[in-house]
Amino acid sequence: MQQPSAIVRVDKATKVYQRDRIPVPALQETSLEIQPGDFVALVGPSGSGKTTLLNLIGGLDRPTSGRIWVGEQEITNLGRKALAEVRLRRIGFVFQEYNLVPVLSALENVEYVMLLQGIDEEQRRQEAIRLLRALGLEGMEHRRPNELSGGQQQRVAVARAIAARPVIVLPDEPTANLDSQSGATLMDLMRRLNEEQGTTFVFSTHDPMVVERASRVIRLRDGRIEADERWASR
Ligand SMILES: Nc1ncnc2c1ncn2[C@@H]1O[C@H](COP(=O)(O)OP(=O)(O)O)[C@@H](O)[C@H]1O
Ligand SMILES: [Mg+2]
Repeated sequence: MQQPSAIVRVDKATKVYQRDRIPVPALQETSLEIQPGDFVALVGPSGSGKTTLLNLIGGLDRPTSGRIWVGEQEITNLGRKALAEVRLRRIGFVFQEYNLVPVLSALENVEYVMLLQGIDEEQRRQEAIRLLRALGLEGMEHRRPNELSGGQQQRVAVARAIAARPVIVLPDEPTANLDSQSGATLMDLMRRLNEEQGTTFVFSTHDPMVVERASRVIRLRDGRIEADERWASR
């Protein structure tokens, strides 16, 4: 069943958190593969394990048991430093709360991750300008996050996530704090990046408008995959 081309592979991953010494199973023996170019919605009730699964795929957290690969690299047992390197080079996170650096402009926020990667200044600047334009933020390059709307901030966060040229982008409820128009704009832009540049996305959501735009929907319940469906027509 395993396809060598999968860009993420999760094999029987279980995550058990401890709360007041009581084990809380967040994810139970979950297996899945993400293929290049997938545009996946991770859905399920609150507490079903969506954030846990994204955090394991992105190397923000380690599974209690089971194995995880990003491309050919197994990340299951990597140490902190090596995991940080995987996140920097290969993963693009987009958080519900945008998480932009407040004292940096939109342009600087997007450039920042490329700076960490050691990309030279001229190339950084050009790439950041190009990405902000692609996300409809031309003219807003020098604004700080508090001078942008929620929808604009989230688009900066997407630009920042893809600036690193990750193999996969993982937005966790990216439209949760947006009005429906800004949410729809954000999703259309993500879809365009997916179709035109082949960027792979796995996003969690509660929002039917977001689910409707996905080409694959993975449904979680109580830490297990309940359904995994593709829509060929989308
Ligand atoms: N750091 C943590 N410590 C203890 N329990 C946690 C932690 N993170 C998540 N959980 C629990 O794991 C389960 C799954 O949570 P989560 O992955 O955040 O679900 P979702 O994103 O679908 O709402 C929930 O029962 C949640 O309370
Ligand atoms: Mg969550």
